[in-house]
Amino acid sequence: MLVTPHTEELREARNARDGSLGFVPTMGFLHEGHLSLVRRAREECKTVAVSIFANPTQFGANEDFASYPRDLQHDLELLEKEKVDIVWTPTAAEMYPPGFQTWVDVKNLTVPLEGTHRPGHFTGVTTVVAKLFNSVQPQRAYFGHKDAQQALVIKKMVRDLNFPIEVIICPTIREEGGLAMSSRNSYLSDDDHEAAKILWLTLKLVKVAFDDGQRNAQLLREIAMRSLASEPRATVQYVAVTDPETLAEINSSTNHALVSMAVVFGKTRLIDNIIVGAPATVSLADSSFKGDSCY
Ligand code: PAJ
Repeated sequence: MLVTPHTEELREARNARDGSLGFVPTMGFLHEGHLSLVRRAREECKTVAVSIFANPTQFGANEDFASYPRDLQHDLELLEKEKVDIVWTPTAAEMYPPGFQTWVDVKNLTVPLEGTHRPGHFTGVTTVVAKLFNSVQPQRAYFGHKDAQQALVIKKMVRDLNFPIEVIICPTIREEGGLAMSSRNSYLSDDDHEAAKILWLTLKLVKVAFDDGQRNAQLLREIAMRSLASEPRATVQYVAVTDPETLAEINSSTNHALVSMAVVFGKTRLIDNIIVGAPATVSLADSSFKGDSCY
């Protein structure tokens, strides 16, 4: 496994390989969610490259960049076990040299949900992912449904800017008890960790209501709000029932929706989501879900 912080070395290693290259961009502190993407890439591609870069430009001024968890040695051990070929660990100085002034912005899709609560976040994400794509030049790139809006935004960027890359969205991996795996779970106190199970319980409740015939988006939202309100440690930022493609809020009845939420426990902000209903057309879920996924 080649491990390098240098773009030039990464490029050389990349160019020395033929056949399909699968790429998994990460910010490190890897868990089973990340590894599920790596495994999917390993199954489908001749060469697998992973980047580890806590990208400063996608964190707001009052967010957790300085304290974002890092453990490069452990990450590398995990990736070695997964038989990854190339690990790129660029530095902020190399990614954003003095005078850097080019940004990639996806417009409408970045406005609602995370965009409302984390202004500037997606500009940082799309800019860094565009840079990572340009350096790694993968045929396929793997993202998690855990960050559903991010996945949609990346898909849009790839289409709009003609990146010759297939974006593959993989199911959310959960802890026992249902909490979606996240590097940020390491911030949670034991009590908050326990309390955070309410996210998955709530999503399941909404899904059961939907599957029982509840199609009114406002009532589905209320079911979620009521469930989250039952957990005193949870402070809700948003609960949304949106079109899974456009992320437009649904105000009428729906046969297919993305239910997403952001909830704060102590100082830790967690997000989670689920898709309810069958996709009417090609969707975010199309290339991602095997029939038995948790949706
Ligand atoms: P990071 O949070 O490290 O996540 C890297 C990838 O792992 C993302 O595609 C994310 O959706 C996926 N992932 C995280 N938790 C998951 C889970 N429980 N199940 C399945 N997939 C999961 O997302 C980022 O980094 C950054 O924004 C990045 C795209 C690397 C750009 O900086």
